[in-house]
Amino acid sequence: MEITKICCIGAGYVGGPTMAVIAQKCPHIQVTVVDLNEQRIKDWNDPNTDNIPIYEPGLAEIVAEARGRNLFFSTEVEKAIDEAQIIFISVNTPTKTYGKGKGMAADLKYIELCARQIAKVAKQNKIVVEKSTLPVRTAEAIKSILDNTGNGVQFQILSNPEFLAEGTAVTDLLNPDRILIGGDTTHEGETAINALVNVYANWVNRDKILTTNVWSSELSKLTANAFLAQRISSINAMSELCEKTGADVNEVAKAIGMDSRIGPKFLKASVGFGGSCFQKDILNLVYIAKTYGLNEVADYWEQVIIMNDHQKRRFSNKIVQTLYNTVADKKITFLGWAFKKDTNDTRESAAIYVADDLINEQAKISVYDPKVSRNKMLSDLDYLGTRTSDENINSLTIFEDAYDACKGSHAIAVLTEWDEFTTYDWQKIYESMHKPAFVFDGRNILDAKKLESIGFVYKGIGS
Ligand code: UDX
Ligand code: UDX
Repeated sequence: MEITKICCIGAGYVGGPTMAVIAQKCPHIQVTVVDLNEQRIKDWNDPNTDNIPIYEPGLAEIVAEARGRNLFFSTEVEKAIDEAQIIFISVNTPTKTYGKGKGMAADLKYIELCARQIAKVAKQNKIVVEKSTLPVRTAEAIKSILDNTGNGVQFQILSNPEFLAEGTAVTDLLNPDRILIGGDTTHEGETAINALVNVYANWVNRDKILTTNVWSSELSKLTANAFLAQRISSINAMSELCEKTGADVNEVAKAIGMDSRIGPKFLKASVGFGGSCFQKDILNLVYIAKTYGLNEVADYWEQVIIMNDHQKRRFSNKIVQTLYNTVADKKITFLGWAFKKDTNDTRESAAIYVADDLINEQAKISVYDPKVSRNKMLSDLDYLGTRTSDENINSLTIFEDAYDACKGSHAIAVLTEWDEFTTYDWQKIYESMHKPAFVFDGRNILDAKKLESIGFVYKGIGS
């Protein structure tokens, strides 16, 4: 089957960049990204590609090249579904906030809505691809909805999980470690798998394209994220021990990372991992294990989350304790709000939780982040529901300039590892602050010795 038209439902952090790269690499395929959110589509169509709603290095250039040629952003969901041979589902699957599985299971209501809409519209056979991270065996539910509510056409469901990391989405998409495609082992299933393999083969070497059954593919995504997050919780657990014993976690990480069986990546101690996937996917895994009565398996993975929550709380406690057990009315400056550098995404960012703790202690928080908007930061706090919007506005001041944000503050907390923080004139910052001036480096990116020689009291993670 020759694919000429693809549609993707969901123009978010996953759908947007993924489809932009497919369109760039496959000029012969028309790629339409649809979303219910009209403003989001409007932003993707902004004539100036620097204003597209998602910041990712290199993305604006790709959108500029492909948009209007074979890449389209639209709110006409039904038309796009009707025309496409392959439909990617890339809508969000947040942790459930109500009912059975509350706080753990993935909320599949958007996925179900998509499946029902596809079933209603489709007049020809379609390949439906799960791009969103989903609990194992979701494909079964999608298939049941499609087959029972459709117009008698055939649907093949593929699982094609996304492994891109935000901030490096474009390079991850252009040079993936692997592409994973799960599908039915029937003849029709294999034909569908091959159709999708051929799309990726336009720029990815075939030996990097793995095909499996649907369940292996779905579970591999959760497993990959659980393993990655586990490494961070493991090094973060060691960071606390290092602080007690006089070992330095950066030295420990380097020493163990040189063991080729362990490897050097994902061993950076931090204030805690954030992002839309790690916590959600592990909670999901825990929920699935519990559903099957596998309590030891569930408890094992849950500990990764418990450790991460502990690390965030430990960071805010350390700030309070170091500032003589009182931060009431003290100005504390956050450098960074995004969950990692090179993204404007703040979902589950440690900054939100640390700010919440410190505001509970009546601190005044000032924030500078190069990419995150004021409204985003305030809505992140409002979402926690700890206090009213007005109270959050009174406790959080957002600056456009890092030096202004630091002026007159008692302490600086580095929450995101933005490169620009390492290039600042720290002498100038020191002079503008209350003394003693503290730096709590939640990312271990600053030069401790240099800051101490200026006069700062420097506290990193795990040393
Ligand atoms: C999301 C999930 O977080 C991730 O686990 C999954 O792997 C892929 O989908 P992301 O792209 O980062 O990732 O989410 P988000 O930026 O929220 O984008 C989802 C988009 O889907 C939103 O723009 C939303 O408006 C849209 N949407 C949602 C629809 O178009 N229709 C719906 O029914 C629901
Ligand atoms: C992750 C996975 O890496 C990706 O494959 C999957 O598709 C989606 O989830 P993402 O959340 O975008 O990607 O970013 P990632 O680079 O994995 O970082 C997640 C969090 O862990 C960030 O808060 C980051 O700062 C933190 N982190 C990462 C550490 O604290 N230490 C590390 O060594 C690495």
